[in-house]
Amino acid sequence: MWQRVKDSQKLDVNSTYCYIMLSEYFTDTCLVAEIDKEIVGFVTSLIRPSNPEVLFVWQIAVSTEYQGKGIAYSLLRDLITGASCTQVRYIETTISPNNAASNRLFRKFAVEIDAPLLESEGFSSHLFPGDIHEDERLIQIGPINHKFGGINS
Ligand SMILES: CC(C)(COP(=O)(O)OP(=O)(O)OC[C@H]1O[C@@H](n2cnc3c(N)ncnc32)[C@H](O)[C@@H]1OP(=O)(O)O)[C@@H](O)C(=O)NCCC(=O)NCCS
Repeated sequence: MWQRVKDSQKLDVNSTYCYIMLSEYFTDTCLVAEIDKEIVGFVTSLIRPSNPEVLFVWQIAVSTEYQGKGIAYSLLRDLITGASCTQVRYIETTISPNNAASNRLFRKFAVEIDAPLLESEGFSSHLFPGDIHEDERLIQIGPINHKFGGINS
């Protein structure tokens, strides 16, 4: 996961410890996509401690050579239809306005599961040191109807 983030050149690279810790303590809400035993994509997320109806999606990335094949969409779909997310009614994530692929991914996902998508102020650039980080807009998808048609197709 750390390597995928480093390669993406778009995401904040966290410590290797962070990804090891996620793999150990948040296995229920973190998924990887493998091809020939190589991790080509992943999603990290967690159920919000103060509200178990909210799944916060932290990072999602797919290797450049496998992008545009529906892998990220499948990771989100498998996550939300998995046993750990049966109580989840809202997905929250933050996206930089300039990240077209990420914006497209989450908007498409909301349409496919027939859930409203709201965009609002998230983490403003001034919160990040060094004036080099873009604004992160908060995206909320939901309420999610787990009986929605087509999500498993
Ligand atoms: C965002 C990302 C995970 C999408 O992965 P992916 O596997 O290529 O996405 P999918 O194939 O499932 O595509 C989902 C939708 O996004 C669209 N999309 C994918 N890449 C796109 C791009 N570069 N520009 C515009 N739309 C794009 C797809 O066309 C698809 O929509 P469609 O079916 O209506 O055409 C991938 O581009 C990536 O790893 N980016 C770098 C890391 C990043 O920015 N992560 C998001 C923030 S945490």
